[in-house]
Amino acid sequence: MPDIIDVQNLVVVYPDGTRAVEDISFNVKEGEFFGFLGPNGAGKSTTIKTLTTLLRKASGRVSVAGYDLDKSPKEIRKSIGVLTQETSLDVDLSGWQNLHLQGRLQQLHGSILDDRIKELLKLVQLEDVAKKSAGRYSGGMRKRLDLASALIHKPKLLFLDEPTTGLDTQSRAAIWEYLEGLNRNEDITIFLTTQYLEEADRLCRRLSIIDHGKIIADGTPWELKEAIGGETITLTLTDASLKSRTMDILKSIAGISNAMVSDSGVVAYAKNAGQIIAEVITTLDRNGIRPSFLSIGSPTLDDVFLRETGRRIRADELSRRETEPFLM
Ligand SMILES: Nc1ncnc2c1ncn2[C@@H]1O[C@H](COP(=O)(O)OP(=O)(O)OP(=O)(O)O)[C@@H](O)[C@H]1O
Ligand SMILES: [Mg+2]
Repeated sequence: MPDIIDVQNLVVVYPDGTRAVEDISFNVKEGEFFGFLGPNGAGKSTTIKTLTTLLRKASGRVSVAGYDLDKSPKEIRKSIGVLTQETSLDVDLSGWQNLHLQGRLQQLHGSILDDRIKELLKLVQLEDVAKKSAGRYSGGMRKRLDLASALIHKPKLLFLDEPTTGLDTQSRAAIWEYLEGLNRNEDITIFLTTQYLEEADRLCRRLSIIDHGKIIADGTPWELKEAIGGETITLTLTDASLKSRTMDILKSIAGISNAMVSDSGVVAYAKNAGQIIAEVITTLDRNGIRPSFLSIGSPTLDDVFLRETGRRIRADELSRRETEPFLM
């Protein structure tokens, strides 16, 4: 499969001197569902804005949908659909009118446009509220309308900047389903950015993890997690001053391949965590260390991020995970 996106040594600098994207290279194959996973300020929107011709790059070579970014920005704009992080809807217009306006901007009209609008309203399940003004839509409904709007001209390549951030679980699940359908059934290549580990893990066939404008790891979700080597033992410590000593103690236990300090405690990696957990607890206890929570789990993409950066991606996902204790 040919590359539908090819980025080589991309650097983007804002007028105030902020180097938001620092020498990144990646490629996306036709038909792929590809993702950028990273925390706030990582450079996700900057990358999307540059690739979709909204922002000027400082250096590097970029080709999108077979066109060179410097030579053919107009052709690129015609070939792609973009869902920006901020909504691009007109809140005074109805859902139907918003799609109609977008269609006209894309040179569609008459019954072709009407049929396309009907089809899209059905896809994102907004037929019943099509006449209601978008200003009265919920967050989930607005995102669905945004998505329909990005699809009006049947693009083969779709850019989505954090399509589910701030949505409730149900709306998020609905968006996930539409996106999987678009990729699988309509053969649309998708480039998506997210802060959600679960979203990247479920949707993306391949992804890059990005932090401070740099790609810190890439591969399939499976490859990335597999590289951690074994299971994770996650400990929460109420006394932060014990973190580094706990890490050293854990590292000295046979069977533990590595241990790292995290925001709320220590994470250790072991091939067969279940078999050494009793020893972990006794050893810590002998040293007067009593974690408030302790759990064993399979590695997540957050463990990959932690290994590369020493930090967690998102605090809310962390707290959910680390309050699933099995003892202590
Ligand atoms: N217009 C701007 N001028 C100067 N710096 C900017 C501008 N927009 C973004 N930045 C900076 O560039 C860096 C990358 O920002 P960007 O918006 O690309 O991050 P992001 O990964 O999309 O984050 P988020 O998840 O919060 O949307 C950040 O340090 C940010 O403060
Ligand atoms: Mg952003």
